Amino acid sequence: MHKVLVPFDGSVHARHALEYVIGLAGQMARPLEVHVLNVQSSPMAYGDYLAPDMIEGVRAGLLNEARDVLQSASDQLKAGGIVHETHVDLGHVAEQIAVAVKKLECDTVVMGTRGLGSFGGLLLGSVANRVIHDVKVPVILIK
Ligand SMILES: Nc1ncnc2c1ncn2[C@@H]1O[C@H](COP(=O)(O)OP(=O)(O)OP(=O)(O)O)[C@@H](O)[C@H]1O
Ligand SMILES: [Mg+2]
Repeated sequence: MHKVLVPFDGSVHARHALEYVIGLAGQMARPLEVHVLNVQSSPMAYGDYLAPDMIEGVRAGLLNEARDVLQSASDQLKAGGIVHETHVDLGHVAEQIAVAVKKLECDTVVMGTRGLGSFGGLLLGSVANRVIHDVKVPVILIK
């Protein structure tokens, strides 16, 4: 394990995933390189209903939101002295996570079992479920 992708939505579970990675980092012979990714739904999906300048406004708002979510993760990694980068993507969440794994050449994904979704009955959220199916590298799921 060297290059780790942490898909991060700011939820308690995603925080636990980040803490797990920070804990692991201290035990590795080779320092970890951590990539934290937040994906926001693309406003292009509403392209039929919104004017182009409205799409641009929504896009800017979503990117700001993502930057806020990622700031806390970045602060925590910085405090742990861990080499890391943050990334923002727009689009379908699980798809973008799979694309990022390939693009960034990550060898492991560490993510929460659940996220910000309000339905507590399921063991696994839909993003976690999809990512397990879609990516070829090991996925560590943290409760
Ligand atoms: N928008 C996102 N950007 C980056 N990572 C995400 C995003 N949404 C979820 N994740 C990652 O996926 C993990 C599981 O969240 P998931 O969305 O599958 O569960 P949920 O929100 O409880 O369920 P659902 O979204 O199906 O209602 C999170 O802990 C986080 O690691
Ligand atoms: Mg979710």
